[in-house]
Order: sequence, then C-alpha cells, then structure tokens
Amino acid sequence: MTFLTRLDDGSLKEGAAPTFALSQRGRAGLEILGAIQTFSSGTLRPMAAANFEENPQGRMLGEDHASPTPAFSERERIAKARTVCEGDAIYRLERFFQRYVAEENFNRGIPAIEERRAEFLAYDAAMAQGSDETPEAGSLTLAEDLAIPAWFAPIEWHLEPGGWDGYDLYGALFAFGVGPYVFRKGGYAAVGIGDDIVGQRLKTIRQFPKDSYARIYEPGCGGVSTLKAVHSVFPEAELHGADLSPLLLKNGARMAARFGFPVHLKQADCATDTGEADASFDGVITYALHHELPPKANRALFAELFRIMKPGADIVISDPPPFRAVSMFHAVILDWDTLHREEPFFSPVLHESLDAMLEEAGFEAVESYAIGQDQYPWITRARKPESTAVEAQA
Ligand SMILES: C[S@@+](CC[C@H](N)C(=O)[O-])C[C@H]1O[C@@H](n2cnc3c(N)ncnc32)[C@H](O)[C@@H]1O
Repeated sequence: MTFLTRLDDGSLKEGAAPTFALSQRGRAGLEILGAIQTFSSGTLRPMAAANFEENPQGRMLGEDHASPTPAFSERERIAKARTVCEGDAIYRLERFFQRYVAEENFNRGIPAIEERRAEFLAYDAAMAQGSDETPEAGSLTLAEDLAIPAWFAPIEWHLEPGGWDGYDLYGALFAFGVGPYVFRKGGYAAVGIGDDIVGQRLKTIRQFPKDSYARIYEPGCGGVSTLKAVHSVFPEAELHGADLSPLLLKNGARMAARFGFPVHLKQADCATDTGEADASFDGVITYALHHELPPKANRALFAELFRIMKPGADIVISDPPPFRAVSMFHAVILDWDTLHREEPFFSPVLHESLDAMLEEAGFEAVESYAIGQDQYPWITRARKPESTAVEAQA
C-alpha cells in the first residue's frame, strides 16, 4: 500500500496538492488503534504462545503438527489447539484486541475521513484531471454488466462495511488513515509485528527469476500498490491488472497517474475470464489474492493464468503461509481470521497446497518458501513449460 500521512506532500502534481490533514480527533483515534494492535501482537501474543508451549496438551499437539506421520488430521489438530488457546486469558485478551481494532478501523476511520469529505473529493478530482492529461499513460476498462461471483458479492472483507465497494472514500481511508496509523505497524492476520508491508512487496517482486519482463499481469490488483512496486523493479515492463472491484480500479488508476507510471486496468473475474489473449504475458504476479478465493475458484484462476501466459513465462505468488508451514500456535492465530475478520476462505485455502494446484494447471519448477518472519511473505513460484504436452504431441 502507498500510505501518505502528510496530506500537504510537496511532491504532488501542481494543482493536485491537498493542503489539509485529518482532524486531531480523527488522527488520534486511529493512532491509538495502531498502539493497541502493537501491544496485542508484540507483547500479549508472545506470552500466549509461551503459555501454549508450556501446556502439555499444547506441546503434544505441536509435536503432532510437526510430525511426518501425525495422529490427527490438520483440521482436528487446529480445533484441539484452539481449545487449549481459549483456556488462556492472555490469548483471549489478545484476540479481543485484534477484533476490536479490526472493527474500530472503520468505526473511527470513516468518520475521520467524512470530516474531510469535501477536501478529499476535490483532491480526487484534481487527480482525475491529471490522468486525463496523460491518456497514453494507461487505461481503465470497467464492465458494468460483469457477473460478480456469488461467493464474492455478500462478503464484508476484513469487516469493511459493504465490502470493497461499500464506501466511496475507502481509497482515502486506507491511504491517509488506517494505512499509516494502523496497518503500517503490522501485527494483524499473517503480517508480523513491525513488518514493512511496502518492503515486503518489493522483496516479493525480486523473486522473479529473470532480469527483465516485457509484459506483466496481476489478477486481483486492487488499488495497484503491488503494480507500483513492480514498476520500480521492472520499469521497462508493460503493466496490466484486473479486479472485480470498480472502486479499487478507479483508485488504482488515480494512484498510477499520480505516481506517473502507466498501467492498463480492467474489471474482470479473473477466475472465469481475464479477457486477455492466449500466451500474451511473460510474467504474472499475485499478491494477497488466493486466500480470498474458494479453492475451486483458485483452480480455475490458475488454469486461466496458464492460458494467458507465454511458454516459459514465470508466475510469482505471495499469500499467507499454508498451515503445514507454521507452528501449531501460529496456525490457530491464522485460522482465527476465517471466522472473526470476515475472511471466509482463509482456512479452506491454507489447508490446501498452491503448489499442487499449480502443478495440476500444468506449471513446472514449482517451489514455495518464506522470505520473512513467521513464514510471511510465503512465496510460491513456477514456470509455464516451454512446450506443453498438447503442443509437443502436435
Ligand atoms: C487483499 S486484495 C489485494 C490487492 C492487491 N493485490 C494488492 O497487492 O494490494 C485482494 C483483491 O483481489 C480481488 N479479487 C478477488 N477475487 C477476484 C477475482 N475472481 N477476480 C478479480 N479480482 C479478484 C479483490 O477485489 C481485491 O481487490
């Protein structure tokens, strides 16, 4: 994400510089949430983890989790470990704070942005004007009649009221409110305490094995934070992104115009039809996407990405680590998001193997590994074969 706390940032384009800030009350209300989250993840959570390790049942489950021949299934182990955790008051307090902050981000953040509605609208208008001046910089294609998948439409992702498109100023809320004052501290979902979430994107993009790419595609690109990082690592690459959310795409187009990098954005259900030509990209990046799709939709997505990739093209994925890769206690922490932070597919996907899904889709050289603390970011990367079986037979 691109977080900006100084709303009078002097580097903004002429005529587009906001000369306002959040009110004292709005800023302070969000800052305390960041402090609570830091205390919860940085102080309470290690205490709860130690209590789990000291509990004989917790220790037994941890050993079973690490065993190549476990007595319990992964689902059974997590359910039993959750019961151990819930017997610990420190764990319960830590989880209370996590839920409280997740909800209050919006209860406090939306009013803080509303206080500056007129200013943010004027700022957005200036940004839009900027992008019109440089149409060659990119494109935005919305599809009003797009069928939104039934598994996507009703979800208020991460407790966001109305889901991704539920509030017209979510862009401002994330860039100027919740982003800098809460998310930047880390310590939520798979993001560790103190993690640099901007740096994590750059590090992920450096997992592409080649030095240069002509055309890179990102399904589920949201507000283009990851494509912005791609541009800084591969400035020569032509960038394409797609998302289901028109609001995120509009924000992304403004962001790209503001930071002066060209990007082609399209509204699409990438698990069904990206609308892109066969064999047209030599790189695909996905960031924080797969845990938001049901496993079946992920399989369809990989088949579609395989289709649009050139032979020899590379795919690099960053998503939360699978349960098999983390400690028993950490598996309970990740699993919690499914029911308590409106992430319905988090656990279903973390029980699966993206590696296996990629192989099923036809990819080769599949590998996965962690590049940060607590196994996050968890990278999965692969390559489309130079010749596919069908071509080889022809
Ligand atoms: C957690 S966000 C990540 C956004 C972006 N990749 C980033 O790095 O900031 C996940 C995004 O995936 C999008 N998404 C989920 N399912 C999708 C689908 N089937 N087709 C296109 N986009 C999808 C959501 O709308 C959301 O913007």
